[in-house]
Amino acid sequence: MKALVLAGGKGTRLRPLSSTMAKHLIPIANKPILFYALDQIAETGIADIGIVISPETGESIKEAVGGGSNWGVQITYILQPEPLGLAHAVKTAQEFLGDSLFLMFLGDNLIKGSITQFVEEFNRHRPDALILLKEVGDPRCFGVAELDNLGQITHLEEKPKQPRSNLAVIGIYLFSSAVHQSIAQLKPSWRGELEITDAIQGLITSGQRVQGHILEDWWIDTGNKDDLLEANQVLLDALLKRDIKGKVDSQSQVIGMVEVRQGAEVENSTLRGPLSIAEGCQIKNSVIGPYTSIGKETIVEASSVERSVVLENCRIHDIGQLEDSVIGRGAQITMSGDKYKAVGLFLGDDAKAEL
Ligand code: G1P
Repeated sequence: MKALVLAGGKGTRLRPLSSTMAKHLIPIANKPILFYALDQIAETGIADIGIVISPETGESIKEAVGGGSNWGVQITYILQPEPLGLAHAVKTAQEFLGDSLFLMFLGDNLIKGSITQFVEEFNRHRPDALILLKEVGDPRCFGVAELDNLGQITHLEEKPKQPRSNLAVIGIYLFSSAVHQSIAQLKPSWRGELEITDAIQGLITSGQRVQGHILEDWWIDTGNKDDLLEANQVLLDALLKRDIKGKVDSQSQVIGMVEVRQGAEVENSTLRGPLSIAEGCQIKNSVIGPYTSIGKETIVEASSVERSVVLENCRIHDIGQLEDSVIGRGAQITMSGDKYKAVGLFLGDDAKAEL
């Protein structure tokens, strides 16, 4: 079996951050979003992974992921020249996929835990497709599935105005090669894309077996700032052990699940876990956390940062309370008065904010 990870797309809902970096490389709990998918795929034993990239961000993804040796897998990069839909991405990858069974994983989706059981379920029952689903409050911005009582999907629709169930299609699919014939018959949807949802509906219409599996655990499609903060919160909660490799002086207090990576220095500060402080950070006279990730080489002085994701090489100085914020690489935030008690920001790379 092969795997296909989709890491193209523009990430328009994550601007300004996604204007200068691939949304798939935004770190959550100090690890790029895409790496979680690669971890989970490698854990299933699939070792032949294609990553679909776009001309805009493909090079940065190649640079971050490399050939796959960090995961013990072989990565093949497939360039999708234009973002013409998920089914178009599969079409573009057809040479790589050949006749193989394959797992398809949208590289900006995160789920908790392992996906091995779904791969095993697919191999045991060998339907033509197995689609992961999740009950959601408002399914209108997703593909929506209807299931019969045997767990077979009877109907699928992309972003319906009047959803026929509350089961959203999440970004993890298992396919047999039958999907390629279905894709070959597709016409672009109202949004001008070849929709994988329509291809799966095509399988159902032609009498093939499409199974659904409802995910009990947490899933997030990291589409906007609030999703990023929620993902950061859940992953810090789920994944972190207390692990202090950097220097924390005796004037500092460390509470709960705190990660301080190699080369980071913490002076006279309170670290309230769960939180992660990456390599080379300097934290002085500050209060960090809970639910905060501070990226590599960032300096925080005389500030309080809570429930935020701060990327690498930032400088945060004298900010009374920075909360619910996502701060792009190299951003500088300073306070020049004392008008604000708490601030929430979404800043792109190299932003300068003087409050
Ligand atoms: C895509 C799929 C949709 C699915 C969603 C999950 O939507 O088309 O069926 O529910 O991913 O994240 P898109 O992100 O292209 O709007």
